[in-house]
Amino acid sequence: MMNNVIDFIQVNRDRYLDELKALLAIPSISALPEHAADVRRCAEWCGGEMTRIGLQGVRLIETPGHPVVYGEWMGAEGAPTILFYGHYDVQPVDPLDLWQSPPFEATIRDGEIYARGSADDKGQVFMHLKAIEAHLTQNGRLPVNIKILLEGEEEVGSEHLDEFVRANKALLAADVVVISDSPMFARGVPSICYGLRGLVYLQIDFRGSNTDLHSGSFGGAVINPAFAMAQLIDGMKDRSGRIRIPGFYDDVRPLQEAERNAWAQLPFNEKTYRKDFGIPKLFGETGYSTLERTWARPTLEVNGLLSGFTGEGAKTVLPAVAMAKISMRLVPDQDPNKIADLFQAYVEKNAPKSVEVTVTRMQGGKPWMTSFDHPYVQAAGRAIEQGFGRAPIFTREGGSIPVVSTFQEELGLPSVLFGVGLPDENAHAPNEKLDISNFHNGIVASAVLYEEIAKVGKSGA
Ligand code: BES
Ligand code: MN
Ligand code: MN
Repeated sequence: MMNNVIDFIQVNRDRYLDELKALLAIPSISALPEHAADVRRCAEWCGGEMTRIGLQGVRLIETPGHPVVYGEWMGAEGAPTILFYGHYDVQPVDPLDLWQSPPFEATIRDGEIYARGSADDKGQVFMHLKAIEAHLTQNGRLPVNIKILLEGEEEVGSEHLDEFVRANKALLAADVVVISDSPMFARGVPSICYGLRGLVYLQIDFRGSNTDLHSGSFGGAVINPAFAMAQLIDGMKDRSGRIRIPGFYDDVRPLQEAERNAWAQLPFNEKTYRKDFGIPKLFGETGYSTLERTWARPTLEVNGLLSGFTGEGAKTVLPAVAMAKISMRLVPDQDPNKIADLFQAYVEKNAPKSVEVTVTRMQGGKPWMTSFDHPYVQAAGRAIEQGFGRAPIFTREGGSIPVVSTFQEELGLPSVLFGVGLPDENAHAPNEKLDISNFHNGIVASAVLYEEIAKVGKSGA
C-alpha cells in the first residue's frame, strides 16, 4: 500500500519545488507590522493548499495577532490522531545586501533551494502537506487521522498560541504531536530531537539625560549610558562563561552521565565546526563540551546593543540613552517567568543610580524534554530510516519552539521532532537554504511516518 504513495512522491519531485517556490515568495515576516497583510496572505495560501490536497474544515482562526490555519482529515476511525504543528511566518531578512539571491525569489543552486523560510519552516511544513497529498491522491485516505495547526507568530515568540491551545483543547485533542522545524545533526546524519531549550527575552533601556550632550562640555560630570550598559552586561557572566545572576542555576537539571557518554560518541568535529563558521576559538562554560553547552546548559546572550554615534567618522557626543536586548536560553527545569524576575532584580540592583532604568519583558517559552523510548518516537525512527536510508540518532537542540511544552502540559501530548534542516541552513540569517534531497527524502519519511504511527495504534497502545 505504501509503494504507490512513494512512487507518486518520486514522480512529482519537480512539481513540489515549483509549488514550494510560490509559498516562499510570500514575505510573511511576522515581526514587521508593514508585512501584516503578507502574513495573512500566506495563511490564506496555506489554507488554499490544504483544501486542495483534500483536508477538511480548513479555516483561518483569528487570534489577537496573526491568524492560525487549521485543517483536518479524520476518516481513519480507530486509528491514532496526529496533531501536526508548524509555522508559516518567517524572520526578517536584513542585512539584505548579504543575500546572493533575493530572499523571496526562491533560487536553486548546488542542490539547495535558497529563500527566507526554506528551512525555517515553510519547506518543512510543505513536506508534510505533500506527504498527505500523496496518500490522499493515491489511496483516497490516510492511515491516521491528522489535524494541521499552522502558526503565524512562532518567530515572534508564539505570544497568542498558549491561550489558543488552552481555549481549543477539544479541537486539538490527539495522540501525538509531529513537528518538523529543526535541523538534522549533520549532512547524511538524520536525527530525532528529544529536547529544546526555553527562552526569556528582555530589553534594558538606560537614560542618562534628556538630550545628547557635548562630550567635551559635559564629559566627566554626567554618566555615559553606553559605558554603564557595558559594565552592567559585563557583570552578568564571569570569564569562565558562568552566569552571575543569583539563583539562575537553582532549577537546572544536571546532565545525566548516560547522556554525556552518548553525546561524546556523536560524529561531531569541533575543528570543522569552527572552520565552517569562521570561529577563531570556541568559548563557553568551563567543564562542558560544545554539544553539552548548546543542548543542555543555559546561556545568556546580548542580541543587540545600541547607543551613541555609530555612523562613519567621529562625533564627540555623550549619548543620552543606551539600549540592550538580552536573551537567556533555558534548560529543564528553569521557568522563564522566574528567571525574568531574577534578571530584573539583578538589573535594578546593579544598574548605577545615575541612569533611569527600564526593563521590558518580551518573548518567553519553557524548555522541553521527552524520553525517546516512546513508541511514537521509535515509529518516527523507522520512518526516517526508510526515507533517508539510515537510522536517526537522538539529539537535543539549543533552539526553542515555545508551544511544545504547552502541548505537553495542556494537552498531555508527546511530541516527535523530526527535522530535515541542516546546521548550516542559515536560519534567521542571509542565504537561508534547504537541501533539496533532504526535502524529498523528508516527504517520503513523512508519508511513511503516518503509516508507522498507525501501526503503533492509539496513544502508544
Ligand atoms: N525552528 C526554530 C527553532 C529551532 C532552532 C529548533 C534550532 C531547533 C534548533 C524556531 O523557528 C525559532 O527560531 N524559534 C525561536 C523562538 C523564539 C522567537 C521564541 C528561537 O529559538 O529563537
Ligand atoms: Mn522554526
Ligand atoms: Mn526560527
